[in-house]
Amino acid sequence: MVEQTISEYDFLNMIKDSDIVKSVTREEPILFSDKVTKKNHFGFNQERTLIITNKAVYNLKKKELKRRILLNVIRGVTISTLNDEFIIHCNDIEYDYQFFSKRKKIIIEIIAKYYYIETQQELKLFLLALKSLDTFVTTKKEKKKNMNFSRMPRNGLTSISAYIYGTTSQKLVQQKEATVKKIGKIFSNTNVDNTNFTKLKTIGRGKCGKIILVTYNKTGDSYAIKSIRKDQIVSEDILDNIKLEREILSEGQCEFLLSLSFFYQSPERIYFVTPFIPGGDLYTLLKKKGHLEEDLVRFYTGQIAIAIGHLHEFGIAYRDLKPENILIDEDGYLKLCDFGSSIHMQGTRKEFSFAGSIEYASPEMISGAGHNIMTDWWSFGILLFELLYGSLPFYSLNKKRLFELIMMSEIKFPKFYVNENEECINFKVSDEAKDLILKLLEKEPGERIGKKGLNDIKTHPFFGSLKFDDLKNKKLQSPYKPNVSDEEKFNNFDQEFLDMDVNESKVDEWVNDYKDWFNDFDKNNGEEQEDEDY
Ligand SMILES: Nc1ncnc2c1ncn2[C@@H]1O[C@H](COP(=O)(O)OP(=O)(O)OP(=O)(O)O)[C@@H](O)[C@H]1O
Ligand SMILES: [Mg+2]
Repeated sequence: MVEQTISEYDFLNMIKDSDIVKSVTREEPILFSDKVTKKNHFGFNQERTLIITNKAVYNLKKKELKRRILLNVIRGVTISTLNDEFIIHCNDIEYDYQFFSKRKKIIIEIIAKYYYIETQQELKLFLLALKSLDTFVTTKKEKKKNMNFSRMPRNGLTSISAYIYGTTSQKLVQQKEATVKKIGKIFSNTNVDNTNFTKLKTIGRGKCGKIILVTYNKTGDSYAIKSIRKDQIVSEDILDNIKLEREILSEGQCEFLLSLSFFYQSPERIYFVTPFIPGGDLYTLLKKKGHLEEDLVRFYTGQIAIAIGHLHEFGIAYRDLKPENILIDEDGYLKLCDFGSSIHMQGTRKEFSFAGSIEYASPEMISGAGHNIMTDWWSFGILLFELLYGSLPFYSLNKKRLFELIMMSEIKFPKFYVNENEECINFKVSDEAKDLILKLLEKEPGERIGKKGLNDIKTHPFFGSLKFDDLKNKKLQSPYKPNVSDEEKFNNFDQEFLDMDVNESKVDEWVNDYKDWFNDFDKNNGEEQEDEDY
């Protein structure tokens, strides 16, 4: 028998009930148990015990098993936004279940999660502002008469992510509708679409979609298209981030920030088109080289400092500084990309949300103490360390341990590395570099270098030999130039991405329910319209 681990949602402590474990759930871990009310097809309420495992939902009368519904026969769940009622809809051979539970949100989250693991599909959810869901229940009798009959609603108003991240209130549904509408407004009015580009290769992949290398049919020039799924923008409530991402990309005032060439939308996605930067990203370079020489690191971090300082001037915290987000152009200069985590800091207010990757996150961000633009100088310190030493100053696969290291551990500088011939070679890192790292990786943001602005960083002895004006005007020779010839350029990108299909994955269906809204906005050609008051 498998070892049962204790779930915090095993409210009836079924794990201790050896009869149940032995005869009912057997090998399956008990993820949830509680008393629920079941409504039968005569309309009577019955007290039942509901158990959920990673494979099935169990309905028991006292200790007697009445029914086991496998997760993969579930077709959807209808949820009342007004009370504790919900229906589990099943496939052709099984009839539906109508339940009441104060803990329905937990129940549905668990079912959804394990349904996804079992089927690789998102569970369909239907949020209805109705006091009774009776008309949506398919009974045993109806199934007997006609196996294909189903009362499950047709148009789901929400996806599982919206349910899990949001609340089940009617307000959520309204907010979501308003957001979808706003996306249409912001991202309409463009003169290109997918037909103007020929897709060549996938060169990257992020949270919300792939990055594809394309040629613009009209000119033959290369661009990178980042597409972002609208359902994810809505579900994850990141419209403001996407808006800011577009603003930063469009600004075009800093040489070391990626700029936007076009943007457009389809009913399902937003597209950012940026010039193709052919040298790949710093992560890929670092992986190839192990670590970088100090002169090159100075040349690189000087540009990144200028880019970060530029964003800070506008009150923007970048919040996702890491080698993956730094691209190398054909001259060996850098472009910072991916402003999806950036945020406008309002006055002296602190921000409490988490963004970016934990390994690069500052103590004040991970502790939830509240952060401001100083969080970027911490990440800058991590980046500086990583480029010089080829490893991270704080690292553990265990998240809790990683948090502890970031919060409490001192910096240790590696002394040597093992090269490809398995020889131990001493690192040649200057005291100035180490001093800057220590000053950047100061746990107290008020004490950290950078608090007086970019000049604080620029005047540190590590940058003593770097002529910032020449760097800014791109008058310096880069110590490293990538090979961007037609034959070699794909070597600058990770094979894992290059092997990916360039076609788009399927977007959550409910987005199509709002198609007309997007069409309307396109007809208006982006002219500003007053928002309707929701
Ligand atoms: N214009 C470009 N030219 C070349 N490569 C690019 C370009 N834009 C993005 N890439 C590659 O694609 C990768 C992912 O892009 P990006 O960081 O913008 O997306 P993301 O990580 O999905 O963003 P988000 O964190 O907002 O989901 C980058 O690390 C980079 O390797
Ligand atoms: Mg990224």
